[in-house]
Amino acid sequence: MMIETSSFFDIHKTETSRINQVDFDNLEFGRVFSDHMFLMEYENGEWMRGKIEPYGPFTMSPASMVFHYGQAIFEGMKAYRMADGGVSIFRPGKNIERFNLSAKRMCMPEVPEDIFMEALATLVELDKEWVPGGDESSLYIRPFMIATDSYVGVKASEKYAFSIFTCPVGAYYKGNVSVKVERNYTRATPGGTGYAKAAGNYAGSLYPSRLAREEGFDQLIWTDAIEHEYIEESGTMNAMFVLNGGLVSPATSDTILNGVTRDSVLTIARDLGINVDIRKVAVSELRSGLESGSITEAFGVGTAATIKPIAEIGIDGIHYPLKHVNHAKSVANQLLNELDGIRRGKIEDRHAWNIPI
Ligand SMILES: Cc1ncc(COP(=O)(O)O)c(C=O)c1O
Repeated sequence: MMIETSSFFDIHKTETSRINQVDFDNLEFGRVFSDHMFLMEYENGEWMRGKIEPYGPFTMSPASMVFHYGQAIFEGMKAYRMADGGVSIFRPGKNIERFNLSAKRMCMPEVPEDIFMEALATLVELDKEWVPGGDESSLYIRPFMIATDSYVGVKASEKYAFSIFTCPVGAYYKGNVSVKVERNYTRATPGGTGYAKAAGNYAGSLYPSRLAREEGFDQLIWTDAIEHEYIEESGTMNAMFVLNGGLVSPATSDTILNGVTRDSVLTIARDLGINVDIRKVAVSELRSGLESGSITEAFGVGTAATIKPIAEIGIDGIHYPLKHVNHAKSVANQLLNELDGIRRGKIEDRHAWNIPI
């Protein structure tokens, strides 16, 4: 086993890469893991020296606090194969910032930005052969932190593990999606943890999502917790609508995850001269826009799914089809072409979003 050092951690390379076992033409999202992972532990009020080692299981005490009290946060970002064959990570600084915001809300230690960035860059460099080249493919990067102290009793853990692993992935959703506007269950409440990428937020969303799937929908669009009248976001995507040719998206708040893709898409829309309106979006407005035809497109935007056009929206039992869902010149397609072109080095990276490895 070869050992190298970086300023913050040691690198133990695998002697037996698994890359030849992977069918890169048929990647299922989130099932294939690259050769290496990063691991760094926190105790006595400080981060210990980290390490990169072969991807593999953790050994943990059954009393590890994450299993009981749920202190767990994560992030999701992607590295892309560029047109010139190189590899770059898309806006990792935004994910590091959001990770540390999540850490603060969940009473967990922040990860210093320089260590986080070096861990990401070194891990992706080491496994760069795992970054797939297909149009819809990329290397998904999953940083996460869990509470590891062995203790029974509700309080913030004193020990944590921070880890990063990566997965070569294809498309998250295959085909069109149909979504249900959720008017009963709640994902996030004011003063709660909705703006954090905390594992518990996702656990609580599973049952309402299952009910929606039983009704034939692929995903939910959450509404606010108080009136169930204002659109918030989808399961792993922020929501956008095309109204009279302009882009409308709910304003972020403490109940909505502030998506990196959302910010990128809104910036690109402004660059392209598309009118952008960030505000509250009422279900009644959505319904009347769908009925009158002034809303022509709806889509979700997120790292995993990128820009996913919505083919149908269910509101209070009525299914509304979206007119422009598969149009080549749809706003969603224009934005996707631009975003993808930038991320793959085919269009000028005018906002310096790509971090080359
Ligand atoms: C709840 C939720 N909303 C929105 C998003 C989109 O955020 P991003 O574009 O940063 O991936 C995600 C995915 O991370 C999410 O889990």
